[in-house]
Amino acid sequence: MADHAPEQAGLAWWQREVFYQIYPRSFQDSNGDGSGDLAGIRRRLDYLCWLGVGAIWICPFFRSPMADGGYDIADYCDIDPLFGSMEDFTELLDDAHARGLKLVLDFVPNHTSDRHPWFAESRASRNNSKRDWYIWRDPHPDGGPPSNWLSHFGGSAWTLDETTGQYYYHAFLAAEPDLNWRSAGLRAAMHDVMRFWLCLGVDGFRVDAVTNLVEDDLLRDDPPNPDFSRGMFPDAKFRRVFTRDRPETHEFIGGMRDVLDEFPDRVLIGEVHLPLARAMAYYGGERPYFHLPFNFQLIESPWDCRSISAAIDQYRMLLPGSAWPNWVLGNHDEVRLATRIGDGQTRVAAMLLMTLRGTPFIYNGDELGMRKVPVGHRQTRDVRVKTMGSHRYSRDGARTPIRWDSSPGSGFTDSDCPWLPLGESTNPEDVARQQTDRNSLLNLYRDLIALRRETPALIGGELVPLPTCRDILEYERHGRGQRLRIALNMGGKEHRIAFDGHWRVMITTFRDRAGETVSGRLTLRPHEGLIAEARS
Ligand code: GLC
Repeated sequence: MADHAPEQAGLAWWQREVFYQIYPRSFQDSNGDGSGDLAGIRRRLDYLCWLGVGAIWICPFFRSPMADGGYDIADYCDIDPLFGSMEDFTELLDDAHARGLKLVLDFVPNHTSDRHPWFAESRASRNNSKRDWYIWRDPHPDGGPPSNWLSHFGGSAWTLDETTGQYYYHAFLAAEPDLNWRSAGLRAAMHDVMRFWLCLGVDGFRVDAVTNLVEDDLLRDDPPNPDFSRGMFPDAKFRRVFTRDRPETHEFIGGMRDVLDEFPDRVLIGEVHLPLARAMAYYGGERPYFHLPFNFQLIESPWDCRSISAAIDQYRMLLPGSAWPNWVLGNHDEVRLATRIGDGQTRVAAMLLMTLRGTPFIYNGDELGMRKVPVGHRQTRDVRVKTMGSHRYSRDGARTPIRWDSSPGSGFTDSDCPWLPLGESTNPEDVARQQTDRNSLLNLYRDLIALRRETPALIGGELVPLPTCRDILEYERHGRGQRLRIALNMGGKEHRIAFDGHWRVMITTFRDRAGETVSGRLTLRPHEGLIAEARS
């Protein structure tokens, strides 16, 4: 069965463009303090245009004590000095727009920093006017936390505040108290935060940790998880029945969408970590919610032909009629793509991402094949190492700086002390070298993005699956009179594949067959992928 694709002409920018996620602390340092900043991103806009992406999402750079990499926000409407000033931001936005790039911010509605003035007020007394902006409860009759709810980052999700003798709830760190979306006052304040940035001209938001927005108001304990085993995240001990994906969440996302829709042509993207069937509800129905609830199938699925083929199909089957798909290969919370799937697979992964039907998201550095950089104990930054008691929960290895060139600070910084190691010996060639190497992974990304841009069938066309055979993942894209065949060898052995009729190779992962005519059989080398166009 084929997807019913709308004509590309009617597609919005967020359906047509490739998104690029920037981790701002590691992108480009402009003032020599070892951390990336907004002026640095501005300096690298030409790179993004050269690469061909059309939209950037920047992780939080708002005022923050940086307990959780900036996701602990102390002022939603100001820039942290680490990243620059409001002027730096507006210059970045203007320059991005002047180049035709859209810019999307991270919106973190679930929690603030415990240093946010709202929390200072809320904790001051039980009858403070902002008391109900956060989630306060009396101790359990036994004197302990009000329920068994666990923090994603280790331990109880409740912390006792001596000032008033009540506990506050935090789905993540104790330094990240959860906001109470049931409070109309809080909702209005958060809607105003959205309006603040939308009025400045940002093109939308990626909404953080949105399934955590609401918890059970009866405070029922989460039930034990019968599938729990050592090696899983500690909070998987309970099934998050009462602490995640509660029905009211949808209503509050609908409210965010209403605010967004006050402004023309913006996008709302949701970080939705849920089983697929439940994640789909985050598109909304009659009332729209997210344009793009993130699809993490390519991250969560084992990386082999059958599993990926199944993941693609399940997603297609569950996608509601008018919903637009999206595909994510990596982000700042996951192990680096090249480390997760192996260096040999990164080219095939790039071709997959750029040829599936739906909006692709690239995490900065994955286009270079960056690997997980070893970060020693003394250099550790991720707070999860401390709160969860083990180095294996560190996300630092996926957050290390981009290496732009071969100079001492790799073109990232003039400082001798980048905030995380540059990983010179772990990482592949830097940007400058890959730019000059026609056969680099970076140039493959660039050419695939360009091909996608000029090939309507790759953007709006239907996706027609083909049978999988051994390690070969195959599908076609049809649209505007074009028929394309994508064949990806995900294994380490060569395989022969059959073509009916005449085809012309448009591009291959190893770059040495473009223009070849194919009819009959063709041998795909290990980890080779190709895109071919039907001639007859
Ligand atoms: C999201 C972010 C992650 C952060 C967490 C808490 O999952 O992607 O980096 O730690 O929310 O804000």
